[in-house]
Amino acid sequence: MTLLDVRDLAVRYDTPHGVSQALDGASLTVAAGELVAVVGESGSGKSTLGMAVLGLLPASAQRVAGDLLVDGSSVFGLAPAELRGLRRTRLGLVLQDAAGSLDPTRRIGRQLAEHLDRPGHAAVLSRLEQVRLPDVERVARSYPHQLSGGMAQRVAIAIALARSPGLLVADEPTAALDTEIKHDVLRLLADSCRERRTALLVLTHDLTGIAAYCTRLVVMYGGRVVETGPPEEVLERPRHPYTRGLLHAVPGQETVGGTLRSIAGSPPVLTGPSAGCAFAPRCEFRIDRCGGVRPEPSDDAARVLCHRDGELDAVVTLHEAPEVSR
Ligand SMILES: Nc1ncnc2c1ncn2[C@@H]1O[C@H](COP(=O)(O)OP(=O)(O)OP(=O)(O)O)[C@@H](O)[C@H]1O
Ligand code: SF4
Ligand SMILES: [Mg+2]
Repeated sequence: MTLLDVRDLAVRYDTPHGVSQALDGASLTVAAGELVAVVGESGSGKSTLGMAVLGLLPASAQRVAGDLLVDGSSVFGLAPAELRGLRRTRLGLVLQDAAGSLDPTRRIGRQLAEHLDRPGHAAVLSRLEQVRLPDVERVARSYPHQLSGGMAQRVAIAIALARSPGLLVADEPTAALDTEIKHDVLRLLADSCRERRTALLVLTHDLTGIAAYCTRLVVMYGGRVVETGPPEEVLERPRHPYTRGLLHAVPGQETVGGTLRSIAGSPPVLTGPSAGCAFAPRCEFRIDRCGGVRPEPSDDAARVLCHRDGELDAVVTLHEAPEVSR
């Protein structure tokens, strides 16, 4: 069953410094229980998409086209009280700054209890155990500043999952954590969602780091979803030139004797809808049509947004695909 349905969504920010077109016709569906990772460079629109799902876009953001449905209802059509109800019962959010999202003046146990339908000391301890925290009695009595970043993130995950939402949005959930802890937290997120049949939408820069924990990878560029597919397929046979570029740029994926390449140029800062393919200025495969005609999905399953999809395998020899360890 489709839980989240983003249809050609266009969102722009109007600020005193100008207009920024953050989403430029983004399309994506997430089914119940799916673990989806949205990857892309800074500015590709990941957080705007995540905030739109939760109905938490700031006042400076405007939907200019398209729609976003959760459980079949447009979040843009809901009254504020209905939106709050949807967030409370069906959606969860985990942010990068876990400690900052907790109330610094109140003990962890009390904060978590507030989110439980049947609060109580035993229930709080059980939820803290479920997110694999040690010494849960002590954690429950602690204030946020007494926890490490990794512990605070586990508490934030326990709170976000307290009511077993249908969909959990996690925006760069491990960006502030040490490398050793990152994988533990991603594994916890994925396992916890799988156990509850909660769908997960992780927004991240880290394409290869997240791949082992998701069932689908979604690549964003210039406010659009440019490719989507099972992680093994996207990593081993990337079809969009941007995805290929991202994989070439991953340290450890360079060929023996070769050099690590980053994608030349910078991501676009759009001030309106892109006339053609937003990747064209950086794309080594561009043809005349790319600058002036917007690419549309080449097939429903992969939704690769490239005029040359299907042609490029013949002209590109890919580096060895990154290893995905589970
Ligand atoms: N509150 C805002 N006001 C004005 N412009 C914004 C705002 N939030 C985002 N933008 C702009 O919208 C575009 C998309 O930003 P967004 O934060 O959604 O991307 P992102 O993929 O999450 O980036 P990052 O990886 O850096 O978090 C960028 O050009 C950004 O500058
Ligand atoms: S549409 Fe053209 S510019 Fe865009 S990715 Fe494909 S080949 Fe490159
Ligand atoms: Mg972001």
